[in-house]
Amino acid sequence: MMTKFGFDVQATDGLSRTGVIRTPRGDIRTPAFMPVGTAATVKAMLPESVRATGADILLGNTYHLMLRPTAERIANLGGLHKFMNWQRPILTDSGGFQVMSLSALRKLTEEGVRFSSHIDGSKHMLSPERSMEIQKLLGSDIVMCFDECPALPATDAEVAKSMALSMRWAQRSRDAFGDRPGHALFGIMQGGVTRDLREESAKALTAIGFDGYAVGGLAVGEGQEAMFGVLDYAPGFLPADKPRYLMGVGKPDDIVGAVERGIDMMDCVLPSRSGRTGQGWTARGQVNIKNARHMDDPRPLEEGCTCPCCANYSRAYLHHVFRAQEIIASMLLTWHNLHYYQVLMQGLRDAIAQGRLAAFVAQFHAQRAMGDI
Ligand code: GUN
Ligand code: ZN
Repeated sequence: MMTKFGFDVQATDGLSRTGVIRTPRGDIRTPAFMPVGTAATVKAMLPESVRATGADILLGNTYHLMLRPTAERIANLGGLHKFMNWQRPILTDSGGFQVMSLSALRKLTEEGVRFSSHIDGSKHMLSPERSMEIQKLLGSDIVMCFDECPALPATDAEVAKSMALSMRWAQRSRDAFGDRPGHALFGIMQGGVTRDLREESAKALTAIGFDGYAVGGLAVGEGQEAMFGVLDYAPGFLPADKPRYLMGVGKPDDIVGAVERGIDMMDCVLPSRSGRTGQGWTARGQVNIKNARHMDDPRPLEEGCTCPCCANYSRAYLHHVFRAQEIIASMLLTWHNLHYYQVLMQGLRDAIAQGRLAAFVAQFHAQRAMGDI
């Protein structure tokens, strides 16, 4: 019999939880960080290397894959897992958020959004029904509802109107998704930084019923204080027995703060993207490897780190390959950053399981306050 999708909370500490999301393609340990593989690749990494960092699940994007190489082509080639050589779970975002940030020409209606491709200007349409169809063609394990994330700044009235549309789209997403054992559909809460709207959105979503619930519409320029302000109450509006996913977050201190507030899953391009621009993330904070101070430094990027970058290469070497724009520079920094993120997640999981999250978080902040060595 096929394993159904499920979530077991194994321990809690304050508002934080640790557990396992079970899927037919494998377990996802929570709190989980999902590396972003937008275009069917986590840039600069082989899938087996991504796995070696400790990732249980990747994120893929409806928007990018529908445009290139197209969802139909991927389906004909056996689905996204086979296409990109990643057999473990994949969560796909639904496309609306990326249309709004990437496509210059777009028209939003009750039906959905018409837009021109940022690649070649060709015309396309996304709706709840089409997004569900594409995510099914891709073979996504965790499908996201089609939603709208309003651009900031927005008035309360605009945020309310957009949230109501997203809730109608959530119902249409649920209807179009249908019954697919082993595959999950997550709703996405909207409502900006307004408590009443967040609560209304959560009620609408829980009335429909989903396998998990995302908090959307954050990390869009409101700042950490405002984001934590929302996270102080928003996870509490969602069912405790379902995974809660904070979309598009974040920096290591955002992740720690979100987990403290009851978030179970997150994704962000930051560790992979900043690896390609020479930014390393360590327990002592951010390191710009392009800085001249690393030119003669024989030490690794992070002392004690067991990743292949830190085990085998010096800061001087990393500095050199970045300055020389060698491809290995992106490979090594991305590997280290993804490894650092997964070590952080394992630290959070262990701390929650052992009831010592507060001490872990205090140590996390103390180490960062010391600054880079
Ligand atoms: N990624 C980051 N934020 C969001 C959001 O609000 N909605 C969707 N679909 N994806 C996101
Ligand atoms: Zn390392």
